[in-house]
Amino acid sequence: LLLYLEGLPLPEVRFYAETGSTNQDALDWAAQGAPELALVVADHQTAGRGRFSRQWFTPPGAALAFSIVLRPVQVSTAHIPLYSPLGALSVVQALENAYHLKPQIKWPNDVLLNDRKVCGVLAEALWQGEALQAIVLGIGINVAPSSVPPADQILFPATCVDEAVGRSINRWELLAKVLKVLLEWHGKITTSAFFAEWQKRLAFVGQMVRLENPGGDSFESLLLGVHTNGHLRLQLDDGSERSFAIGDLKLRPL
Ligand code: ATP
Ligand code: BTN
Repeated sequence: LLLYLEGLPLPEVRFYAETGSTNQDALDWAAQGAPELALVVADHQTAGRGRFSRQWFTPPGAALAFSIVLRPVQVSTAHIPLYSPLGALSVVQALENAYHLKPQIKWPNDVLLNDRKVCGVLAEALWQGEALQAIVLGIGINVAPSSVPPADQILFPATCVDEAVGRSINRWELLAKVLKVLLEWHGKITTSAFFAEWQKRLAFVGQMVRLENPGGDSFESLLLGVHTNGHLRLQLDDGSERSFAIGDLKLRPL
């Protein structure tokens, strides 16, 4: 692993053969003073988590699961929701550059290959009172076929990188490529270039999608794209435009 990370400006790396959640490890470490770009990598997570405490399946030997500590200076709280898209775009561009794949982003935080979920991103903020101490950006990528959960345990179809590439790829090589892209975008998530690249990879643009909130209410709408603040742009039946903040909304193609 360390061999692959050579050349990247990472101050400290912690590797666990097994842990609960690398996001929890990185949050705990950040609370104890982990430096900017401190990295936690695990082979196997026993309590990997997604948004809103949903579970993220990470069996041993098959997935890429890592979390990085970011300490943005003077970040406005309005920009915090842009960190999971930062993770998603970094994974997308790494997969494009390394394996010539055409991944897309299912707004706001999932990466799809052939319309199936290959990666999830979870950004969590660490606060001390009103002050933002750190953002932990956690990324989980299904690499080998055994990392793909059984169909009856997931809500959205899933796939893995190996299946799309047609051979078994090296997880740590992919990790290094994702981090390289991430470090290039870090600090630029409010630029127009970032939005342009994000929007270019947005899945289901120009298509009808269903948005559903946790209460089960749902509606169908035409997906137009993203606003520069990360909000989703939708067109309603009467032709009017509506936007949605990044939150607990499920997005499904029709
Ligand atoms: P969805 O993925 O259903 O659109 P979401 O993006 O809001 O919803 P998240 O909380 O981001 O969901 O992701 C967690 C969900 O991902 C879990 O509820 C589970 O259905 C699914 N999941 C868990 N592990 C994996 C995995 N390794 N690969 C693909 N999907 C997974
Ligand atoms: C999602 O789709 O909801 C996000 C899943 C995020 C999973 C990654 S795996 C590494 C890191 N550690 C966690 O517990 N979660 C993230």
